[in-house]
Amino acid sequence: MPLGRPSQSSAPRGAAITAHPRPVAVVTGASSGIGAEFARRFAVRGYDLVLVARRADRLAALADELAADHGTTATVLTADLADPAAPAEVVRELESRGLLVDALVNAAGFGTYGPLLTAEPDRVAAEIQVNVTALTLLSRLLLPDLAASRRGILVNVASTAAYQPGPSFAVYAATKAYVRSFTEAVWAEHRGSRLRVLALAPGPADTEFFDVAGSDRFRVGQVLPVPRVVDVAFRALDRPSPPPSVVPGLRNAATAALAGALPRRLVLRVAARLAGA
Ligand SMILES: NC(=O)c1ccc[n+]([C@@H]2O[C@H](COP(=O)([O-])OP(=O)(O)OC[C@H]3O[C@@H](n4cnc5c(N)ncnc54)[C@H](OP(=O)(O)O)[C@@H]3O)[C@@H](O)[C@H]2O)c1
Repeated sequence: MPLGRPSQSSAPRGAAITAHPRPVAVVTGASSGIGAEFARRFAVRGYDLVLVARRADRLAALADELAADHGTTATVLTADLADPAAPAEVVRELESRGLLVDALVNAAGFGTYGPLLTAEPDRVAAEIQVNVTALTLLSRLLLPDLAASRRGILVNVASTAAYQPGPSFAVYAATKAYVRSFTEAVWAEHRGSRLRVLALAPGPADTEFFDVAGSDRFRVGQVLPVPRVVDVAFRALDRPSPPPSVVPGLRNAATAALAGALPRRLVLRVAARLAGA
């Protein structure tokens, strides 16, 4: 493979790369919240980590914590996933460090509260780039490694917002509907293989998410602690036949199912009222 360009093929990137003695998990959005918790859980399970986000200080602190608590080797990759070049650069960095990837968690993401009419266009573009495009490209570029691994795992973090449109957070809900649809399709493409693919669709969790979004008006649903959310993901992944997606929390799961069954006008009216649209 030519250096400086990640492989476009479906072959694992391993030919020129020495197998790592411990499995390796790449976690985006590892500087905070759900991504940081995934990193801790993989460390407990004996994985080495690659931590991806913009805030290098947070990633370095987590890397130190994982090394001290679990003897983990954690590589910090600082990347702004709103930059269209970032996914390929992340994969190039993995190659240059000789890392084959066994697990990928795409947790990086953010939302924005408010009507589309007044949304900042650059922020809209960045939201789609991070939540959709970067997630899709990292999934694609690392899929050959994941599929070749004896314990391949791909987790893409969607949201309960994936189950109905989101007045006052229209772009965010649409990006998460994409993540769910995309990930479930990839699940079907790998059904019967060793690769475990999961769309994790949490309801509200106590992270920095609502500060970044600019409001907690769309903090709608059953609030769960972050460790509970990640527990649910690992319980699903540990099943002999993992489901394509999982919604943590019985009430959140029931609401998501109901949203798919009720008339669209009614769903939109309720969604708008709950979000203060
Ligand atoms: N919390 C909730 O209620 C909730 C509910 C459903 C789904 N989710 C989803 O869960 C995922 C994790 O969110 P969270 O709740 O843990 O929120 P969070 O605490 O705000 O964490 C978001 C993570 O995404 C990273 N990120 C954001 N923009 C980025 C960019 N341009 N480049 C690289 N990394 C970026 C952040 O890192 P840096 O700022 O350091 O770059 C941070 O690590 C997101 O996809 C979110 O949509 C959250």
